[in-house]
Amino acid sequence: MKQKLTQELLLSLTADTPSISPKFFYDEIGSHLFEVITLLDEYYPTRTEKWIMDNYQSEIANAVGSCDALLDLGAGNCIKASQLFNSIKPKQYHALDISKEFLETAVADLRKQFPQISMSAHAVDLSQTFTFPTLQNLRKIFFFPGSSIGNYDPDKADAFFSNLAIQCNDDGGLLIGVDLVKDVQTLNCAYNDALGVTAAFNLNALLNINKLIGSNFNPVNWEHYAFFNTSLSRIEMHLRARDDVKVTIPELGSKDHVLTFKAGDLIHTENSYKYTQDDFVEKLRSAGFENIHSWTDPQNHFLVCFVNARKIS
Ligand code: AVJ
Repeated sequence: MKQKLTQELLLSLTADTPSISPKFFYDEIGSHLFEVITLLDEYYPTRTEKWIMDNYQSEIANAVGSCDALLDLGAGNCIKASQLFNSIKPKQYHALDISKEFLETAVADLRKQFPQISMSAHAVDLSQTFTFPTLQNLRKIFFFPGSSIGNYDPDKADAFFSNLAIQCNDDGGLLIGVDLVKDVQTLNCAYNDALGVTAAFNLNALLNINKLIGSNFNPVNWEHYAFFNTSLSRIEMHLRARDDVKVTIPELGSKDHVLTFKAGDLIHTENSYKYTQDDFVEKLRSAGFENIHSWTDPQNHFLVCFVNARKIS
């Protein structure tokens, strides 16, 4: 495990454009920092999505229809899914997320509140290929809220959707939330909050990596850098070296690797793609979904869609 992560990170950190996968944000501290981000004034996606889900609750439940199993992709604290339980009434709930302990605690709490729903927690990396819990002859509804899809490059998102459409087995569906393109200032503020919580979230990836592979990144040497890249329609987050920096990565059983960065060098940590409503709906359609329902807020800041898998007959 440690060796594999070391290899993965050595490769991504020594590439022409050094990068760290956003999955490294979500250790215990990072998961909590993300929860705080969702409470910030500047970070509109979470509360806007919640407004849409609450305001159109019965319409959404009608569109979704009967739900044997709700599969929560990137469940986090499971709160968003639990807010659907009373309207969608799933018989089973399966929570998938990268952060194992965080997820298991959340599901354990939820079991007490909803004893009638059978629940399971699965620690998986959604950016890799993974197997879903086997649920034969059950109508499956996938739930992918929070614009998590924004982390995927557009072609990866297409592949992910095509796979979900197949997993839906003719009768299932997907309920998904996605952040929309809007004025650049609103976008930039959402990723550059005044309290510096997003900065701490970004820098914490370095501490998580130190813990995982024994490297010695010092967050003090790095600064948060985030901006909207208009031509690629994405927020980019980076860590920028404040000075010349040396980082040692111990290689199990052989010599250490020393990485050098110059002042101003960047490590790319995240992309968060923003879509137009039309482009996003078209993406779902071409991946094999039909019957597209969508809901938005009065400012058109965020979009919630429910789509059915196209029947292969
Ligand atoms: C959880 C990927 C949807 O892209 O807005 C928040 C993560 N990064 N602030 C996003 C995030 C910085 C978030 N997603």
